[in-house]
Order: sequence, then C-alpha cells, then structure tokens
Amino acid sequence: MDNPKSENITWHNQLVTLEDKIKLHGHKGATIWFTGLSGSGKSTLANALSVKLHNLGISTAVLDGDNIRYGLNKNLGFSPEDRKENVRRIGEVARLFSSNAIINLTAFISPYIEDRATARELQPESFIEVYCYADVSVCEKRDPKGLYKKVRAGEIESFTGINAPYEAPVNPEVIVDTGRQSIDECINKIVEFLKTREFIN
Ligand code: ADX
Repeated sequence: MDNPKSENITWHNQLVTLEDKIKLHGHKGATIWFTGLSGSGKSTLANALSVKLHNLGISTAVLDGDNIRYGLNKNLGFSPEDRKENVRRIGEVARLFSSNAIINLTAFISPYIEDRATARELQPESFIEVYCYADVSVCEKRDPKGLYKKVRAGEIESFTGINAPYEAPVNPEVIVDTGRQSIDECINKIVEFLKTREFIN
C-alpha cells in the first residue's frame, strides 16, 4: 500500500469490533465484484442477488458504477487514469463495508486486470470476482442506455469494448454467461459459490 500523503495521523481501532458485528449480522463481510462490459448485466445481477441475499437475512450494499459517478466519483471520467482511481476508491469503500460485516455487490466495468487486483489485495480472503460475460454484440443489441448507438454515431469516445480495452479476468471465482443463462441461473451459481465457501449458510 502507498504511504498516506498526510503526516501526523494515527490509526484508531473501533470499540465495536468486527467480531461483534459478525455476531450481530450472522455472517462475515465480503465483496462480490462484478466485472464486464457495459450492458453485460452487472447491475441487474448485483441487484437481483442483493434481493435474494437480503431475503436470506444478509446485510448487503450495492455499489453501482453509474450511481457512484453521481456522488463520490463525480470528478472522474473514463480515461485509464480516472478508471483506475474509480476502482481504487471503490476497492477502499468495499473494504470499509466488509470490515463492518456487510456483503458488497459492486458493479463496475473495471476494465483493467491490474486495477481489479489492487481491489482484491485489500481483502484477499473475502474478494469474489464474478466475470459477467456477454459478447460485445449481445451488449450492443441490449443497449439499455442507448450508449452503443451513441458510440456508433461518434458521440462517445473511448467506450469500453468498442474503442477502449476490456481485459477479461484470467481466474475469476465465478463466471456467468448472461447471453445464455437466465438471471436466476446466474445468481444461483453465485449463491452456490457463497455457500460452498461458507460466506453464507
Ligand atoms: S469503469 O470503467 O470506470 O469501471 P464504470 O463502471 O464506473 O466504468 O462506469 C461505466 C458506465 O458509465 C457504463 O455502464 C455506461 O453507462 C457509462 N459510460 C459512459 N461513458 C462510458 C465510456 N466511455 N466507457 C464505458 N462506460 C461509459
């Protein structure tokens, strides 16, 4: 980890410990990190899974790329440096939440392997990378926000999968193929993983 810019700062431990929170929530924290192209289904799956987990009594937080860019990351664009900073901040937020026994569901394109690895390093035991696979042609056909249409019309530069890179995960914990599998099939696959690895009962 880089050293902080500030000097004369002191780390304070919390009086309510992580163990206390795990006892209260009935589970540890974790980060389910969805990555994939725009339109691959990350937000849809993160939200569907959050409902399923919530109904099982699990404390969740959905962190969604578009939403976070309205607030915390409103000063960031889509250059490689800004995407890196976007993912760095979300990695830190996710670590804060999981160290409070919350299960995060993050939905960011997060196109660079290196940046996702940095987010993983912050919580190696509790980081679950889910590759939301869908061919770019499938995403373009869905085009839920009309962005691919704008890209083709030359109105958006550096759009991931068209004229900006997407580096697919090499060894993700879970892969879902959203062009072929239903939403239920995808989230059941993730729930199975969470149960097998004892993140949830
Ligand atoms: S990331 O690359 O930095 O991880 P993030 O997930 O936060 O991206 O935001 C992606 C969302 O921003 C897309 O789903 C889309 O709605 C919107 N968007 C706007 N411009 C672009 C662009 N040039 N490339 C990718 N997504 C874009």
